[in-house]
Amino acid sequence: MNPQEQINQLTDRLNELNHRYYITADSEVSDFEFDKLLEQLQQLEKEFPLFVRADSPTHRVGGAVSKEFEAVNHRFPMLSLGNTYNEGELADFDERVRKGLNNEPYEYICELKFDGVALSVWYENGKLVRGVTRGDGVRGDDITANIKTIRTLPLSINAENLPAVFEVRGEGFMPLTSFESLNKEREDIGEALLANPRNAASGTFKMQDSSVVAKRKMDCYLYQFLSYDEVFESHEESLHWMKKAGFNVSPTWEKCNNIQEVFTFIERWDKARHDLPLNTDGIVIKINSFAQREVLGYTAKSPRWAIAYKYKSESASTSLETVSYQVGRTGNVTPVANLKPVLLAGTVVKRASIHNANEIERLDLHIGDTVFVEKGGEIIPKITGVDISKRSLTFEKVQFPTTCPECDTPLIRKEGEANHYCPNDKGCPPQIKGKIEHFIQRKALNIENLGTESIDLFYQKGIIKSPADLYDLTKEKLANLEGFKDKSINNILVGVEKSKEIPFKQVLFGIGIRFVGATVAEKLASYFNNIDAIAKASYEDLLQVPEIGDRIAQSVVAFFQDEDNQAYIARLKDAKLQFIHETTEIVVEGNSLEGKTFVISGTFQNFERDDLKIKIEANGGKVLSGVSGKLNFLVAGSEAGPSKLQKAQKLGVQIISEDDFLQMLEG
Ligand code: IVH
Repeated sequence: MNPQEQINQLTDRLNELNHRYYITADSEVSDFEFDKLLEQLQQLEKEFPLFVRADSPTHRVGGAVSKEFEAVNHRFPMLSLGNTYNEGELADFDERVRKGLNNEPYEYICELKFDGVALSVWYENGKLVRGVTRGDGVRGDDITANIKTIRTLPLSINAENLPAVFEVRGEGFMPLTSFESLNKEREDIGEALLANPRNAASGTFKMQDSSVVAKRKMDCYLYQFLSYDEVFESHEESLHWMKKAGFNVSPTWEKCNNIQEVFTFIERWDKARHDLPLNTDGIVIKINSFAQREVLGYTAKSPRWAIAYKYKSESASTSLETVSYQVGRTGNVTPVANLKPVLLAGTVVKRASIHNANEIERLDLHIGDTVFVEKGGEIIPKITGVDISKRSLTFEKVQFPTTCPECDTPLIRKEGEANHYCPNDKGCPPQIKGKIEHFIQRKALNIENLGTESIDLFYQKGIIKSPADLYDLTKEKLANLEGFKDKSINNILVGVEKSKEIPFKQVLFGIGIRFVGATVAEKLASYFNNIDAIAKASYEDLLQVPEIGDRIAQSVVAFFQDEDNQAYIARLKDAKLQFIHETTEIVVEGNSLEGKTFVISGTFQNFERDDLKIKIEANGGKVLSGVSGKLNFLVAGSEAGPSKLQKAQKLGVQIISEDDFLQMLEG
């Protein structure tokens, strides 16, 4: 096979695997195998750039960096929708439609109104050629490289019987799970939190480095097909086709025969929409027949054949009792409102977030105020306003403290930043405890059997003041603490001991350098290979590392210049933690599992899950991610997933225990 054929074959295979993984959820290869094929393709594309296809899956991982996005004209204007807020307004809309269509019968398609950013994606000869933002509706930004990172969006489709040029539109969004983990990561390394998933999505799609976009796991629901030629007669038909062609169409849409059915749809989704993987703020009602849409036509801004119904955002009013100030691991001080408990969207709310001092000013908060709280996309509700009419002259204005509520150090606020910080990183209790908690978390040193409460206690008793003190713990030091028996003491000591085997990249993340999250730690570890090289690296050296920018480079240099930090690292080195990066290569052990496929579920006595995977691969087997009819064995440990077990049983897949597996390995 010549290189071009090889590139073609790999491209097709990977696109097919991707589709099966993300859309039909029946992947047949392991992530490891997928990555290997992808690497092979990347290598070939590097050698023969002429043969890189527009639909190459290598675009998914990003890499293209755009200085500025090119503005492009939309082929069809991107309109907006009229809004309605109650059933009466919706009934008026229905009346206008009925008159406009001269009393002939019509159907509606109801969809949810997804809260993200509108995207337009162009296909030519079945290949994705362009992704464009809405912009002003007439011109948008070409963000193709970023759009291609959306795994559920096909880069090529089987375009038989289709116009050579067509366009699909939909809502790009950051799934709630991605949003939460992104914010958790940001909090962890001291970055400002993103306000809500919609802002996060719009910011992400406008990022210049598409490889960062790729990491954020964006998604897109398609809800419109457009072309110069008439292809479909109804919206319904186009939705079915898009789904079949491999586009991600939310299965929540429904056909309604009259406005009563629309009201039922609205009512049903009012609660159920909160279980969806993204935020929604209403529903969209569209005429089904394209011919009828033409009859109804457009106003300057929006179609007459569609309208949005917005759900009332759930809000409640209650009184503001106090404001407390929390100090995080990196010293940032966040105000939190303590409220008189109130019922909101099914849960009792006692606290609300106030982002920073600017927000206190903007709302002009006074203690005792009657405030409105709303649940947006965030988990913690927020204060959206104050009922001034209920303010008494005796209510005192909320004053942001000038010193740290925990250690009394004067707070600082950097020019242009909204947050206040406590600079006493070495002496402020929540910062110290936060550093220890950060250090022991799963993604870092993974020290089991040590939770927040024990850390609090150890800190209070003066037993631990730095993560390095964990390695000086002894039975004697813990012996007289209330609630600690021999067994739990032993468990802690074993956990600490085990952490000495945790790979360097996790150690580097755990030591808690500001702005160095898990991904950055991994990049630094694999670029420099060991801690000494990182400690010696200059600001310029650090900027050479892919994805390391100015702020991280400065923070790393400052960390290693600090003498206390040098002593801290020295102590961890003495404790024999891993400070050298090791690449895990699979060393072939045998071929007893040749040609067999496995899915791993649960926990095991002799192996960590990753080790079990390595063992299988080292002996010629393959590890798949999901149970399908093709799978040979489900290795079930304790607490194996019930859905995996059920599916395996149903499909006749052999379920084996850890012992069975060990026997198989030998024989
Ligand atoms: S249809 C001509 N369907 O709402 C109408 N829009 O206010 C084209 N949106 O810009 C839009 N979910 O970003 C449509 N199921 C849905 C939608 C939806 C969210 C957004 C979209 C549009 C805005 C219109």
